[in-house]
Amino acid sequence: DWTSSNVIDEQVERIRAQVGDKRVICALSGGVDSAVAAAIVQKAVGDQLTCIHVDHGLMRAGEVEQIEKDFVASTGVRLIIRDEKERFLSALAGVSDPETKRKIIGREFIRVFEDSARQVVEEAGAHGEDVEFLVQGTLYPDVVESGGGEGAANIKSHHNVGGLPDDLQFSLVEPLRALFKDEVRAVGRELGIPEEIVGRQPFPGPGLGIRIIGEVTWERLEILRRADAIAREELTKAGLDDQIWQCPVVLLADVRSVGVQGDGRTYGHPIVLRPVSSEDAMTADWSRLPYDVLAHISNRITNEVAEVNRVVVDVTSKPPGTIEWE
Ligand code: XMP
Repeated sequence: DWTSSNVIDEQVERIRAQVGDKRVICALSGGVDSAVAAAIVQKAVGDQLTCIHVDHGLMRAGEVEQIEKDFVASTGVRLIIRDEKERFLSALAGVSDPETKRKIIGREFIRVFEDSARQVVEEAGAHGEDVEFLVQGTLYPDVVESGGGEGAANIKSHHNVGGLPDDLQFSLVEPLRALFKDEVRAVGRELGIPEEIVGRQPFPGPGLGIRIIGEVTWERLEILRRADAIAREELTKAGLDDQIWQCPVVLLADVRSVGVQGDGRTYGHPIVLRPVSSEDAMTADWSRLPYDVLAHISNRITNEVAEVNRVVVDVTSKPPGTIEWE
């Protein structure tokens, strides 16, 4: 019988058998999947787990603070925050191709995990066991869409599935590999993870790096962060969060169009709003948002983000579009 408590019991037993007395690290992105995966592993092996939050500079506004406030406060898990903005941005310099970006981000994540493992052992002192295991919040749809499922095409390399090096020094612990998102949420609630995390909309591991169409630079990230924060704030204010699966906000960084503001000509970038409804992200439909909400978001973004002079709405279902633009 599928119940969330059965899933938890089964995974706790499996993880204990797999991990023994070794140390484990888990990357916490701030999203639902990694939080639930971490909580199951913590239940299984307690203090043998250390969580790592990689601040790669591709996060949305306020994300690091949220991890500390919501997750660490409710679980008491040990957390290391690594400031790796420089590393990721220099690795991404000059790169526009979506799959190349994804692979670079995946590769840099692994390098940070290796550095973090050394840090964990050092901090544990002379008796520190090696870190042999890495927890990933991989879900069933990630496996399928990265070409891991039977007969599946490689649509995108999800950073936590594709792009792992052959000589990976960790064994993976993936307690959510058979689950869909709604099941992960049920498991998270059963584990007592606060609603602020369990109810969050999905956000991809490669972050805003795959929501800037074109090269990723700090300046472009800052533009997108401001636009994204406005869209999220207004959707929440309008009470639409529960109706929307997620709403990627995308910066078309290599596109410019002519506009007018005050009595001056502008030549700025478009922002795309991509609100979708979905059951499991394998298919999706575009959300029919109220026009006045869209108008308000558009007004605010063009008024408050000087580099943006146009806001467009993506009205494509999946398929043929994917949810993210890259
Ligand atoms: P697509 O764009 O493939 O997205 O329709 C399906 C769902 O997966 C999320 N997504 C990711 N999640 N790592 C993740 O953890 C990734 O690399 C990744 N790429 C896409 C996307 O936000 C949507 O919910």
